Amino acid sequence: MSESTEPSLSNLSREERRFEPPADLVASANVTEQVYAEAESDRLAFWESAAQRLSWGTRWDRVLDWDDAPFGKWFVGGELNASYNCVDRHVEAGNGGKVAFHWVGEPEDDTRTITYSDLKDEVCRAANALTDLGVSTGDRVAIYMPMIPETVVSMLACARIGAIHTVVFGGFSADALANRIEDCDATLVITADGGYRRGAPSALKPAVDDAVGRSPGIQNVLVVRRTGQDIAWGDKDVWWHDVVDKASSEHTPENFDAEHPLYVMYTSGTTGKPKGILHTTGGYLVQSAWTHWAVFDLKPETDVFWCSADIGWVTGHSYIVYGPLANGCTSILYEGTPDTPHRGRWWEIVQQYGVTIFYTAPTAIRACMKWGKDIPEQFDLSSLRVLGSVGESINPEAYVWYRDAIGGGTAPVMDTWWQTETGAHMISPLPGVTAGKPGSAMQGLPGIVVDVVDDTGASVPDGSGGYLVVREPWPAMLRTLWGDDQRYKDTYWSRFPGMYFAGDGAKKDEDGDIWLLGRVDDVMNVSGHRLSTTEIESALVSHPKVAEAAVVGAKDESSGQAVVAFVILREDAGDGGPDVVAELRQHVTKEIGAIAKPKSIMVVPELPKTRSGKIMRRLLQDVAENREVGDATTLADTSVMDQIKSGLSSGKADED
Ligand code: PRX
Repeated sequence: MSESTEPSLSNLSREERRFEPPADLVASANVTEQVYAEAESDRLAFWESAAQRLSWGTRWDRVLDWDDAPFGKWFVGGELNASYNCVDRHVEAGNGGKVAFHWVGEPEDDTRTITYSDLKDEVCRAANALTDLGVSTGDRVAIYMPMIPETVVSMLACARIGAIHTVVFGGFSADALANRIEDCDATLVITADGGYRRGAPSALKPAVDDAVGRSPGIQNVLVVRRTGQDIAWGDKDVWWHDVVDKASSEHTPENFDAEHPLYVMYTSGTTGKPKGILHTTGGYLVQSAWTHWAVFDLKPETDVFWCSADIGWVTGHSYIVYGPLANGCTSILYEGTPDTPHRGRWWEIVQQYGVTIFYTAPTAIRACMKWGKDIPEQFDLSSLRVLGSVGESINPEAYVWYRDAIGGGTAPVMDTWWQTETGAHMISPLPGVTAGKPGSAMQGLPGIVVDVVDDTGASVPDGSGGYLVVREPWPAMLRTLWGDDQRYKDTYWSRFPGMYFAGDGAKKDEDGDIWLLGRVDDVMNVSGHRLSTTEIESALVSHPKVAEAAVVGAKDESSGQAVVAFVILREDAGDGGPDVVAELRQHVTKEIGAIAKPKSIMVVPELPKTRSGKIMRRLLQDVAENREVGDATTLADTSVMDQIKSGLSSGKADED
């Protein structure tokens, strides 16, 4: 233990439930227990064997070069083409007729079936068209698209010619797009007239026009016609169907160095300027392919995989595009939202296509929990055999609900911890090995060395909390921040020398299993105890009336900070009854202890979330401390803060 007297983060909650892996899964599992030992005895040899999943033009001569740490190189000297690995080689192996994507548009009956042969032809045509538009190796291409097959094609076409893509989530504003274009000096934007969202066409092109108007470096805008809505047309604009459809479907992929940049993905930092996370080709593809195969126990011949994330996030990059396609599997690509035109839409799609592996985020699971179990019960979900979760800690109650209501009480839940920066899964159970604990991401994957340390950087003992770090480099790690090596070092490698600091709090339980406790910036300090937002939120969500909870620390004269909670009730709980606040405070006391009892609890209709579904606790803290609410421009729905404040003035809060 450290010299510091106060633990870095208190260990509050207890969870006794365990779920053994299903026997049939154990019997045929891709990965067995022994792989952990193998990877531990020779980590680099383990990653070399994982690299055999790919086709290399030239084999590497050194697995890892860490001489210039924290600037790492993986598979040094190796050459490959990411697009060839994701498409051509499956066609060459005789699997051209296999479905790569069942694409499901938001309007009902708007579907497309795309085989690996179709995908190869379209990627080749797009690669030729990009070259004709003057895009060459190393150029940056911004992609601002709805969830349509052309988005995947665009990414793979860039990868094929060695251009670096930066996908900007279609829900972002013109400003956000312009900032990203400027930061990476993109020369081409690929977009669509619009996409469908909640039953109506939603325009994309006007935001592009605005951003391009401010970005003199953009030479052309390539536009897919998706909705057919009216759009303005400028002299840089080119229709996709005019240039891509007419291009040749023959294109010979060139092999690039394993360290050739593949993409830049922007993620928000603590300061306003977004960080351009740079991923390169070989190591990224190795780890995204291996983890997709291992963590979901993927059987590419029979599985139908569905990751519900948007391609605009890293989850979509690694687990809709690069991982699944490198593994040659069949996936679902769905354009719309889970509740359009009805709240059973996802489950209808699972039933229709026989989805076997489903990967989503806790925020979506909690929304489904709020809507009630009777919705998924109307569909046959028996094809599902493995479930995944990503983006935040999954509250134990949401985990158990997911496993029961969606997974039929048998499908194991993989709580995968990773980040835009890590590129691929880092901490997760394995479906044929791990006895899962609801709420815990369990162990570092084979070949990944994670730890929880205290303020001094010393490893904490089992049963204690602290800071999550990665002790050894990993293949899919970010290589730097685009154009800012110093910020890369300062942000990730300076807090604990020699270790990657992820910004997350975590604890090791008595068995040494890892529980994520939220961003350390969100940690509260109540009477000298550092409390995690995640644990108190999970205690609230374990109450039968609660669907979702967010907890913040508000300044308090006596205790330093006081716990303030915001909760959304489940629909079948109505308004919760007159005593709901007292009940919930009592419940937290029982589940965790009096130290964590919220000083006040506000029942709210919605919580402020970013577009990727993460709760913006900073804004709630402003409310809790009676301040003017700060910058809310990254909110998915900006009216949410008004709803919360009006609820407050109607006296829902309860104070001691
Ligand atoms: O705080 C952790 C949380 O999401 C952060 C990374 O966010 P982003 O880069 O947007 O990537 C999300 C998709 C990989 C992490 O620092 N996070 C992600 N997965 C989990 C999680 N927190 C707890 N448990 C998880 N499984």
